[in-house]
Amino acid sequence: MAVGGTRTGEDDVNEATESSTRERLTKEYATDEIVVEWEPRLCFHSQNCIRSLPQVFDESRRPWVKVDAASADEVEAAVALCPSGALRTRRIGVSVARRQQTPEVRASPNGPLLVSGGVRILDAEGKVLYEGEKAALCRCGDSANKPFCDGTHKTNGFRG
Ligand code: SF4
Ligand code: FES
Repeated sequence: MAVGGTRTGEDDVNEATESSTRERLTKEYATDEIVVEWEPRLCFHSQNCIRSLPQVFDESRRPWVKVDAASADEVEAAVALCPSGALRTRRIGVSVARRQQTPEVRASPNGPLLVSGGVRILDAEGKVLYEGEKAALCRCGDSANKPFCDGTHKTNGFRG
């Protein structure tokens, strides 16, 4: 199964700490050094995390994140490669000053618009759908999870 999408099965729910509303479900996987947060609705299955640190991120395993299988630094570096903001980390007992980043929107080849540097996304009525550091926004028009990319561009022949 691809990372994300229907990943709300009992295994995950039982083995991770689940917080927030159903709309903005976030799962947490922790050691005493680091917490990895995963927000499934933002994930578009780029697999950057899996390629970067397969012993930690393995979609065939439950839980799919085994945060103690690498050092906290390695986990942090792999999570930084997540283009959608679905994965995030917090270090335990370390307060990190937020680095000011220039907001950027980048078109990925044949894929979503990758937003970084902080974004607030609102619906047509002005309701905040999401606020965070990164997001991947559909530009093929076929995502079932608009405005977020859900990976459909990989199978619908989108070029752009
Ligand atoms: S890197 Fe991010 S978007 Fe890609 S599969 Fe992992 S969690 Fe999903
Ligand atoms: S760009 Fe990814 S689903 Fe549309």
